[in-house]
Amino acid sequence: MTTTLTGIQPTGELHLGNYAGAIRPLVRLAARPGRDTYVFVADLHALNGRPEPGVLRDRTRRMVAALLACGLDHDRVHVYRQSRVPAVAQITALLANVTSKGTLNRAHAYKALVAANAAAGRDPDHGVNMGLFSYPVLMAADILAMRAGEVPVGADQAQHREIAVEPARAFARAYGPGVLPEPQAIVPPAGGVLRGLDGRKMSKSYDNTIPLFAAPERQAALVRRVVTDSRRPEEPKDPDTCTLVALLDAFGDPAAAREVRDRYRTGGIGYGDVKALLAGQLHATLAPMRDRHEALLADPARLDAALEAGERRAGERAGETLRRMACAMGL
Ligand code: TRP
Repeated sequence: MTTTLTGIQPTGELHLGNYAGAIRPLVRLAARPGRDTYVFVADLHALNGRPEPGVLRDRTRRMVAALLACGLDHDRVHVYRQSRVPAVAQITALLANVTSKGTLNRAHAYKALVAANAAAGRDPDHGVNMGLFSYPVLMAADILAMRAGEVPVGADQAQHREIAVEPARAFARAYGPGVLPEPQAIVPPAGGVLRGLDGRKMSKSYDNTIPLFAAPERQAALVRRVVTDSRRPEEPKDPDTCTLVALLDAFGDPAAAREVRDRYRTGGIGYGDVKALLAGQLHATLAPMRDRHEALLADPARLDAALEAGERRAGERAGETLRRMACAMGL
């Protein structure tokens, strides 16, 4: 049995890029036999951005509902809020004693902030709180608490997983092997990078996203804003560089995408028609998920029941890890 674990920050609205790049590959991975999957909303990590409390609470619930609605809602997936598994925070405190400061000095997010401070002639620690500096220790605790074998994360998070290996090794040297298994290979999300309205990577920071659960009319309006070249309908076009085709590949049915590709090559379709087709395909693909998302948000008791099950299960596993660690350490 493989234990898979990943966390996701409770950011605002999920967009198509989050779904195609991270959530859908995770749903597929979790559906494979022989796997137990833990997925948590990283609300403790989110505190570092000091969100307004009501906003954090709301985003956390919406993210949980989204994960369940996207298909992480069967009995081999355990969805939980990080803050509701107190053993994770306790394990963070224990791990701090086997994590060297030098390792944390090398973490990308911290280094980037220090470099920005240096460039601006400020104190190197300007704006650096301990939540940011010790972010990798909490992330190591997330992973090691569930004794995860497999941690699928995006390339931008790969260093954090490596940083989790270090305390696991240091713990084994100091207190013996067998308590904290080292997390193995990370499985990069197979979805790759989806392009946004302007053709760059779809990302909130570029303001070029199409929200996953927006109303169909709003999605259609955004699809109409996707940037294309100015070739006329009868001119041949290159399907491989067109953002619309990329979106169709990711969200349309394969036959429709194939047909559009053919018509691009022969010059028999205009961008306006492709946009209308894409909006329709998005609607067909996403409507069931959007309905489930809304139904879950409208039924707090159901959402709470799902969380209760996930949090009980995650709490038991993390609690067992904590007991083994504490015992090995002489507590
Ligand atoms: N750092 C991740 C992000 O910002 C979220 C995260 C927190 C995570 N802890 C984790 C991912 C443990 C994988 C494993 O997206």
